[in-house]
Amino acid sequence: MKCAIILAGGKGTRMKSDLPKVMCEVLFEPMISHVLRAVKEAGCEDICVVTGYKHEIVEDFLPDGIKTAYQNPQLGTGHAVMMAREFVQEHKDDKILILNGDGPLMDAETINKAYAYHEENKNAITLVSAIVDDTNGIGHVKRDENGTLLCIVEHKDANEEEKKINESNAGTYWFNGSDLLYALDNITNNNAQNEYYLTDSLAILIAKGENAGAYVVENSEVVLGANDRKQLNDLNNIMRRNINDAMMVNGVDIPCTDGVMIGTQVKIGNSTRIMPNTVIIGSTVIGDNCVIGPNTYIKDGVIGNNAVLDNVKLTDSEVEDGVTCGPFVQIRNGSKVCKNVHIGNFVEIKNSVMGEGTKCAHLTYVGDSDVGKNVNFGCGTVTVNYDGKNKHRCTIGDNAFIGCNTNLIAPVCVGDFAFTAAGSTITEDVPSNALSVARSKQVNIENWVTRKKPYKNMD
Ligand code: UD1
Ligand code: CA
Repeated sequence: MKCAIILAGGKGTRMKSDLPKVMCEVLFEPMISHVLRAVKEAGCEDICVVTGYKHEIVEDFLPDGIKTAYQNPQLGTGHAVMMAREFVQEHKDDKILILNGDGPLMDAETINKAYAYHEENKNAITLVSAIVDDTNGIGHVKRDENGTLLCIVEHKDANEEEKKINESNAGTYWFNGSDLLYALDNITNNNAQNEYYLTDSLAILIAKGENAGAYVVENSEVVLGANDRKQLNDLNNIMRRNINDAMMVNGVDIPCTDGVMIGTQVKIGNSTRIMPNTVIIGSTVIGDNCVIGPNTYIKDGVIGNNAVLDNVKLTDSEVEDGVTCGPFVQIRNGSKVCKNVHIGNFVEIKNSVMGEGTKCAHLTYVGDSDVGKNVNFGCGTVTVNYDGKNKHRCTIGDNAFIGCNTNLIAPVCVGDFAFTAAGSTITEDVPSNALSVARSKQVNIENWVTRKKPYKNMD
């Protein structure tokens, strides 16, 4: 059985964040979430996360079924694993993956290749390493003149020669459970930071006469972690590029990737075009032949085929085939916009259904409403859904015509084919096929201006 321990106890002082470091986000998702996904995808069945600094925040975020161990105070990565000793004991006959919660680019493929290497060589410990350009702050993988592994030297403990070693420890390791227990018993804090380094396990197990190996990755980017905001930005750029590239390979059209950020779980269909400055995240699914953007934000949206979303902010809502939307539109809170609806500029749709073929071309608020098919909203319609205490719903029947500047004071129903006169404030239900006029009658006072002379210089 494969199982895993994810180290997530550190504060991440250099992030200058109120959050534990692993909760800092890459592509709008906490780093630990990416790590968890990779670990699950790699087939680890039992997972333990070591929490420490602001542990409740991490614990609240973790999905059900993930075990935790609490580390307080945080005395280093080796100490963190010691806090999960019970978990290790439980899995002493299994293979245990240990990895840093702040390395979101680590993927299942690399984890599995390292596992295969671990098994083939009957290792007690296999670490993942990479040849890197920037050796600052890394754990240097030290070998003898024959290339045989010796130990890992942390940058802060390294001498000038060791600092030149450009093979970096990724912070991802496979252990045999029983060997890990042995290592934990022998790690000390005799080093520059007075911390218990998990990395010392390598030298400890070598000294015991066990096999140890390093699986050197081909793509050194997968080992990158983030200790500060600059590195977080680097990780965002790498992950963003990887996802955009994969999208394009699959037939998504991205003529310019500037500002295009697509989340790891997003699905986009063939020949859909993503325009600049567009963020698409969460569980969003988009169909074929759409145009999304420019300047569009979609979180947890379901978009059909042939839809156009131009300068739209859409959250937690569904848009069906052939909808055109924007510019400057917000759709939110569980709305459903049915086939071939047209939503024009400066419109907000909240928690509402817009029936097939309905048109809402300008400056309108539709909130908490059930709107039928082929309704026409005049400019400036407002559903007055909130009385200061409670929200109420409006119902509008099929083929209704809502005149410009109508206020619909909810709760109110407008029947099928009903008409409201422009400028009406509708407080009572309007029967089907009726015209409702709810405004004061126009009065023209003849020659009032000539008599009254209200303008300057009229005498
Ligand atoms: C660690 C490795 C280093 C490696 C690097 C790769 C050690 C001693 N060093 O260094 O060899 O090159 O990762 O990124 O392991 N954590 C705890 N409890 C603690 C300390 C840390 O849970 O007491 C967690 C952190 O939240 C983090 C991970 O362990 O997710 C790594 O800790 P960090 O302090 O970032 O280690 P590095 O200095 O990067
Ligand atoms: Ca780190």
